[in-house]
Amino acid sequence: MSQQIGFIGGGQMAEALIKGIIASGLYKSEDVLISEPNESRRDHLETTYSVKAFYSNLPIFENCKIIILAVKPQTMGGLLEECKDRVQTQQIIVSVAAGLPISFYLNHIGKPDTKIIRVMPNTPALVMEGASALSRNKNVTDEELRAAEEIFLAVGEAVILDEVHLDAVTGLSGSGPAYVFSFVEALIDAGVKSGLTRAVSEKLALQTVSGSVKLLKESGEHPASLRGKVTSPGGTAITALHVLEKVGFHGIIMDIVESAVNRSKELGKS
Ligand SMILES: NC(=O)c1ccc[n+]([C@@H]2O[C@H](COP(=O)([O-])OP(=O)(O)OC[C@H]3O[C@@H](n4cnc5c(N)ncnc54)[C@H](OP(=O)(O)O)[C@@H]3O)[C@@H](O)[C@H]2O)c1
Repeated sequence: MSQQIGFIGGGQMAEALIKGIIASGLYKSEDVLISEPNESRRDHLETTYSVKAFYSNLPIFENCKIIILAVKPQTMGGLLEECKDRVQTQQIIVSVAAGLPISFYLNHIGKPDTKIIRVMPNTPALVMEGASALSRNKNVTDEELRAAEEIFLAVGEAVILDEVHLDAVTGLSGSGPAYVFSFVEALIDAGVKSGLTRAVSEKLALQTVSGSVKLLKESGEHPASLRGKVTSPGGTAITALHVLEKVGFHGIIMDIVESAVNRSKELGKS
């Protein structure tokens, strides 16, 4: 079997991964195959990335060692039923569908020796700044896992974890963009309330958040240390932080992540 990579589902997440693996040089355009029912999506992917897009998923199963399942979780069961007889033992099935456990794929495919990697990516992968966690079943070798990790490193950061930790990942990085977007929205409104125009407030809030993250990454300093450096005695920042701590900011963040983790566990069971 060739070193071609296949995608089943050519939507947003597949496109982000395709863009990343081609731009990083991990795969050549001609080695990327996609199956996608929507003709305009197929045309778009072929035109933009010079890849091969098919209506049927048969060419993917016939040619690719790594197969990425990038359809919505609610259509995954039907897809697996449709293609379970096509899956070969040496193929690595990598799914990015949120919430579905490895056992779901094994049960549907019905072959216990199938190699499955479950990935929890997040939305910033769409702009090559994702945070993904990968878990494998026992059939996947270290080398195969590393090959899958490379794909997600092409669109951001990636970590390898036991599947038991994927609910925590869902609560932190999977759902995390929603918390950050809410925080930024509140910051913008706060600027407007203090008399700034919305356009100015948006520009300053976004740059403050992205600049602070860049400073954290590049300095390697602990957030508490950097926070200490921007709080001068009796100044504005420490006055504002006092308000933040009175409402239990740390506790609220820990509670929201914990609630998302618990919800992820509930959804996984159902
Ligand atoms: N987008 C994100 O930021 C994000 C983040 C984390 C995880 N994910 C996961 O990534 C997966 C894909 O999400 P997405 O946002 O990329 O969804 P999407 O944009 O809706 O893409 C899914 C694509 O798969 C196609 N499709 C449906 N059934 C198919 C089949 N049997 N064979 C081949 N293609 C089929 C759909 O076509 P039709 O539209 O014609 O049905 C659609 O173009 C989901 O499981 C989601 O949980 C996404």
